[in-house]
Amino acid sequence: MSTHGLVVDRGLEGVVVGHTQLSNVEGQIGRLTYRGYDIDELAPEATFEEVVHLLLYGRLPDRHELDVLKRELGARRSLPEPLVNAMQSVPETAWPMDVLRTVVSGLALFSPVNAHGEHLSDVHTAIELIAKVPTIVAAWDRIRRGLAPIEPRSDLSQAGNFLYMRSGKLPSDVEEDALDTYFVLLADHSYNASTFAARVTASTRADAYAAVTSALATLQGDLHGGAANASYRTLTEVGSPANAEPYVRAVLARGDRIMGMGHREYKVRDPRARHLEAMAKRLAEHLGDPHNYEVARAVEDASRKVLQEKKPDNTIYANVDFYTAAVLADLGIPGDEFTPLFACGRIAGWTAHVLEQLADNRLIRPQATYEGPPPGPYIPIERRSSNGVHA
Ligand code: COA
Repeated sequence: MSTHGLVVDRGLEGVVVGHTQLSNVEGQIGRLTYRGYDIDELAPEATFEEVVHLLLYGRLPDRHELDVLKRELGARRSLPEPLVNAMQSVPETAWPMDVLRTVVSGLALFSPVNAHGEHLSDVHTAIELIAKVPTIVAAWDRIRRGLAPIEPRSDLSQAGNFLYMRSGKLPSDVEEDALDTYFVLLADHSYNASTFAARVTASTRADAYAAVTSALATLQGDLHGGAANASYRTLTEVGSPANAEPYVRAVLARGDRIMGMGHREYKVRDPRARHLEAMAKRLAEHLGDPHNYEVARAVEDASRKVLQEKKPDNTIYANVDFYTAAVLADLGIPGDEFTPLFACGRIAGWTAHVLEQLADNRLIRPQATYEGPPPGPYIPIERRSSNGVHA
């Protein structure tokens, strides 16, 4: 379908809507790079804080720059007290993603404004949002369990502090490393739906709080950030590796999708899945409980087998959310917190994209082909029938 010479595809598939220097998704070969650095190198080597620096400042930090960033993140983790009090009056049944989106929006109420009364949207705002998002998730985790929230610690990493704030105990190195790697892998992914939403909002010159609130709203659905929780439900429904193949056959026979499989961009296995699979295996060994890892492996194998039987050249492989389910479940995180955890990593990319958008801004305002009725006269209400047609 075309309008004004532009090709319009459902879901904007294949349509280039902007440019970025932050990350590059090469879907045909399964490569993801952040500012030219392959995640295959970043995942095992770099910390999330290094990646935050890379995205926000354009280069990997030296030791001093990293220390400065870590100090700033640590200093900005605490939430305004009225927001914590407000969370304590929320019904404990509230969905963690709803709480996160609402409290992030509420952060704007406490943020500084310039002489025109506008919130700042600079690199410090970005660091503030990166620092506070995990605090909100961890605080709600405790509040809804009837426990008092734990004050964040400024001397821990983003990952370490999140796990500490949930339990009050310092995580093991393996646990901290697993979550840190997860955050590294989730930090950015070009113009994915939530990042695009953030950029659209920022392009109107709305502030970073508004842009991140848009991104959080967009992340929620199970075709995007909600897939890991859906994938976890699959693991629990499957129950044992032996049940994987019958389960997959039943899902596909009723026309449903295997959650955590398939990707708009990747036509091979998502490069992030390999690292998350390795992390799931390592955590399983650390815990001495391979259950989640083994069920996930069996579901992936069965899915590939059955999908290939149906269509030998299909390109539906495990995506980032598939092994995320096993990793986060083994860290003791409940399924309905998986999407908020995604946000704890992706907040780095969202804020970097907001800054990139503002540095060279033009309002994002596409067109649509109109497919409604042709122009016609207004019908006064007294002459209108109930179906809107001329009486
Ligand atoms: N399981 C089974 N079939 C799948 C599938 C899955 N997970 N993902 C895609 N397909 C099939 C569709 O049924 C469709 O088949 P058809 O051509 O016979 O109708 C075909 O693949 C193309 O699907 P479409 O939805 O057009 O592709 P897309 O590019 O929009 O899909 C996703 C991308 C992510 C929306 C899709 O793969 C999906 O729904 N995956 C499950 C949810 C998920 O894991 N989301 C997280 C993404 S990181």
